[in-house]
Amino acid sequence: MSKINIGIMGLGTVGGSTYDILTKNRDLITARTGIDYEIHRVLEIKQENILKHGVDPAIVTDQVEKVIEADDLDIVVEAIGGMEPVSTWMITAMEHGISVVTPNKAAIAAQYDRFLGAAEKNGVQFRYEASVGGGIPELTAIMESLAGNRFLAVSGIVNGTTNYILTQMGDFGLSYEEALKDAQAKGFAEKDPTADVEGIDCANKLTILMKLCFDQYIKPDQIPRTGITQITKADLDAAAAKGCRVKLLVQAKLDEAGKLTYSVAPTELPKDHPLASVNNEFNAIYVTGDAVGEVMFYGKGAGPATGSAIVGDILHIMRDLTIGGRK
Ligand code: HSE
Repeated sequence: MSKINIGIMGLGTVGGSTYDILTKNRDLITARTGIDYEIHRVLEIKQENILKHGVDPAIVTDQVEKVIEADDLDIVVEAIGGMEPVSTWMITAMEHGISVVTPNKAAIAAQYDRFLGAAEKNGVQFRYEASVGGGIPELTAIMESLAGNRFLAVSGIVNGTTNYILTQMGDFGLSYEEALKDAQAKGFAEKDPTADVEGIDCANKLTILMKLCFDQYIKPDQIPRTGITQITKADLDAAAAKGCRVKLLVQAKLDEAGKLTYSVAPTELPKDHPLASVNNEFNAIYVTGDAVGEVMFYGKGAGPATGSAIVGDILHIMRDLTIGGRK
């Protein structure tokens, strides 16, 4: 049986959950795919993370070169986040023939062509299902199962932190600060939650969705954007009195002339709208295709569930690597 060696950079909420899934479900995954694998190296300096996930100290390193320049790794997961140095690290890994999996929407949205170009040039894969919608597998569906469609619109709730804050403020009376603190404690929020509450994280994700649905690369800073920092409990109550709920929506659609319009903004939705009942860290992504009509993807968009999408990408690459006995 072939053996695939995996490296993980960062054992925070997402990297840690990726490690746990690959470890806990190892027999099932191996039986299902017919591919054997090993978590061969982990880049982490925080002892508490190493202990929390029970990682064998023998595979832990604090030297990034041992991961991104390794000749004994097939796939590396970047789960540290931020723009640099991790963008350069991901490129270096691909230059060394290692496929990369990442949830890093900020880096992908800013440098989509750079990453995909490096993957193509070096004959490796760069996969990023977890970058939008956490554990929800909508990007692969858009790229594969729905690839025969001409997409007309994509919209949704794609930030768990702000959806958690709006739900807790509107339904449970928490203050903005209390709800944000809670979201941070649960591992939903970005390192700097400004990216969540100002809609920057949503804009990053909309850039990726628009690239895949419409093949238009519109950078996040070109997207009209309003966050939730100005939303008060009074706004949520006023919306509720009208039978509505406020949600931070991303939206992009083609008009009749084929022009794409797009935005990130808090939006009042009637309570019976399907997106109005998407609460807390749950996300939902709606796509409209000319052949399939409307499709909605729903699930946990932040936190440990994100590891599920990363493992899905790893398995995708493992299958490709072992086709025809290449490994
Ligand atoms: N901070 C992000 C969110 C994490 O709250 O949705 C998942 O991308």
